[in-house]
Amino acid sequence: MAFYKEVYKEMLLCQQAKATNRDHVTGNCSTKGGNVFSAKRIIRAVKRQSLNKNKVYWLTGLSGSGKSTIAEVMKERMGDNAIILDGDVFRNKLCSDLGFSMKDRSENIRRISWIAQFLHGLGKDVIVSFISPARGQRDFARSLFDDNDFIEVHIATSLEECEKRDVKGLYKKARAGEIKDFTGISSPYEEPLAPELFIDTEGVSVEDCVDAILGPEIPDKKTSIFIGRFQPPHEGHFAQVQKLLDEGRRVLIGLREIPKTEKNPYDVEYRRNRFKEIFGSQVEFFVIPESLEGCLEVVYGRKVGWDIREVRFDSQTESISATKVRESMK
Ligand SMILES: Nc1ncnc2c1ncn2[C@@H]1O[C@H](COP(=O)(O)OP(=O)(O)OP(=O)(O)O)[C@@H](O)[C@H]1O
Ligand SMILES: [Mg+2]
Repeated sequence: MAFYKEVYKEMLLCQQAKATNRDHVTGNCSTKGGNVFSAKRIIRAVKRQSLNKNKVYWLTGLSGSGKSTIAEVMKERMGDNAIILDGDVFRNKLCSDLGFSMKDRSENIRRISWIAQFLHGLGKDVIVSFISPARGQRDFARSLFDDNDFIEVHIATSLEECEKRDVKGLYKKARAGEIKDFTGISSPYEEPLAPELFIDTEGVSVEDCVDAILGPEIPDKKTSIFIGRFQPPHEGHFAQVQKLLDEGRRVLIGLREIPKTEKNPYDVEYRRNRFKEIFGSQVEFFVIPESLEGCLEVVYGRKVGWDIREVRFDSQTESISATKVRESMK
């Protein structure tokens, strides 16, 4: 969590720095690789990601930067609706006729872009992990999607770090001249100018990188419904709500709308605001209409999936008198 907050701070700084074309850590104008920021662990977010719609996550970066590794962990998190399109897999199959000239690389990306669009159209979350070295190639991919559906993630691990990792031993071969057209050595990599996210993985765990892309994992919350007249809401009610929140529940407060009497003088708005003052957006509300005033009982079937918990307050809370609370409020 702490990391996440830090990341947001960095995003902000980076956005500001980018606006002024300065490196936010050194304060210097960015010279390394043109528009690249050299600060470690910079993650930049441009768009707010709407949570409910399936997306295309386009991971681009040098060989060994971490695209496939991050893609795998993203898929584990996202579940069966997510599909990975990985460079190596396609290079060995659908695109086995292509080489590594820029023309062939563009054809490679063109094919993958259309496959991604097809899968996205079926409602899938698509994780594309391809070096995709040219801006034009990535721009083509982007052009196939609505603005908010395409998340370009620059896995911006430095060439030095990728070469140090040399996962597949390819850098060594490229340096020895055994492989030609190798990205970063003998073939260009054009850094994205405005990716939605920018991640330098050096010294950062894979989990943290995935958190930055997808947001941290939030465990499913069970809902507790808390119904009452709350005339007015008082310490006893607040203690109960706090207890449910402490148990990790989502709390839905059911406010009964009842005719105004001396005993029940507060309208729904007033009572809702009293809870809000204490709990802010941690609690949600629904209103039980006045027409249910004659309501006798709540009936529920067996195994409806909900438990009924009759609240037993401790004696101190039990001794709170709503009448006295009302009196003190006059
Ligand atoms: N935070 C991180 N995220 C991803 N990978 C990391 C991270 N830290 C270290 N690594 C290591 O970096 C290496 C990345 O290799 P990976 O195969 O994922 O790169 P790639 O970008 O898919 O390369 P290629 O384009 O050649 O397929 C792995 O050995 C991985 O364990
Ligand atoms: Mg890979």
